[in-house]
Amino acid sequence: MLIRKPSDIPSSEITAQADYMDRRKFMAGAAALGAAALGAERLSNIASPQQAVQADTKLTTIPSKYSTTGVTPTSFQDITTYNNFYEFGTEKSDPARNAWRLQTSPWSIKVDGLVKQKKTFDIDALMKLRPMEERVYRHRCVEAWSMVIPWAGYSLSEFIKACEPLSNARYVQFLSLDNPKEEPWIKSVDLHWPYSEGLRMDEAMNPLTLLTFGLYGQPLPKQDGAPVRVVLPWKYGFKSAKSIVEVRFVKDQPRTTWNESAPNEYGFYSNVNPNVDHPRWSQKYERVIGAPFWKARQPTLMFNGYGDQVASLYQGMDLRKNF
Ligand code: MTE
Repeated sequence: MLIRKPSDIPSSEITAQADYMDRRKFMAGAAALGAAALGAERLSNIASPQQAVQADTKLTTIPSKYSTTGVTPTSFQDITTYNNFYEFGTEKSDPARNAWRLQTSPWSIKVDGLVKQKKTFDIDALMKLRPMEERVYRHRCVEAWSMVIPWAGYSLSEFIKACEPLSNARYVQFLSLDNPKEEPWIKSVDLHWPYSEGLRMDEAMNPLTLLTFGLYGQPLPKQDGAPVRVVLPWKYGFKSAKSIVEVRFVKDQPRTTWNESAPNEYGFYSNVNPNVDHPRWSQKYERVIGAPFWKARQPTLMFNGYGDQVASLYQGMDLRKNF
């Protein structure tokens, strides 16, 4: 992310469908060759044409008033094979290939910091805390590409209420799993682990902020942040921490991975803003993943199109300084 700009991204990552399918054929062949050595169980987790088949497990979701209308969801295939998840490698295709190592059960989230009482939420209980809604959201990456994703989850505010934060908690920090045995790239990728993100409390409490357990009506695929992540549709994708194991309520602005790594490029707020360019590229337009060529380049919308719901959070702030 910090290391490359869109024009640096090899064309293999922006290929036409035909080239892409050829690459997939190659990977399927390679996977078949490795089958004997790896065993059937592991093979089933390796990126192959099979991997993008939707799982049998279904989540029960209800429609949501917060869902974005008039947009076309990106294919399940693209959502699950074009990812940023540096614990599993730095190339877009790496997470789909490598995230099989992640053990998502058992899983729990530890809640600490400024709370009435420290708690641990088991993932099964967490998934049942509130009815899950299907929310179609625009998803805009700071690298100037975008998707539309039908997520499943409920407002993070519902979870925060159950955490009972104290009144002096001004920020909330999300920490992702840091386990080099399951996430081997942690040892080679030069970021400060665990992956950490943070929000101001009012951003976290905004009803659009989604505690997310699934997409396309099934549990999150591992490469998309299983078993639980956050999603903030008006912010660049890196604010959405994946595979969360700890939520901390704090008084001061917490450290965040990308801000720490390149503070001039990745601000704490990271609201989608076509008027504030990244120092190395423009944010005015975005490449819409999977769209037909005549719709593949779209102008970026302020707050990614969610200004009506969130602009008031930033009233009076200089968004060039607080980028
Ligand atoms: N969370 C963790 N733990 N590790 C990561 O590398 N990448 C971020 C964010 N959350 C990342 C993460 C970035 S840069 C983006 S754009 C989104 O996840 C990508 O989400 P997606 O792969 O589901 O599209």
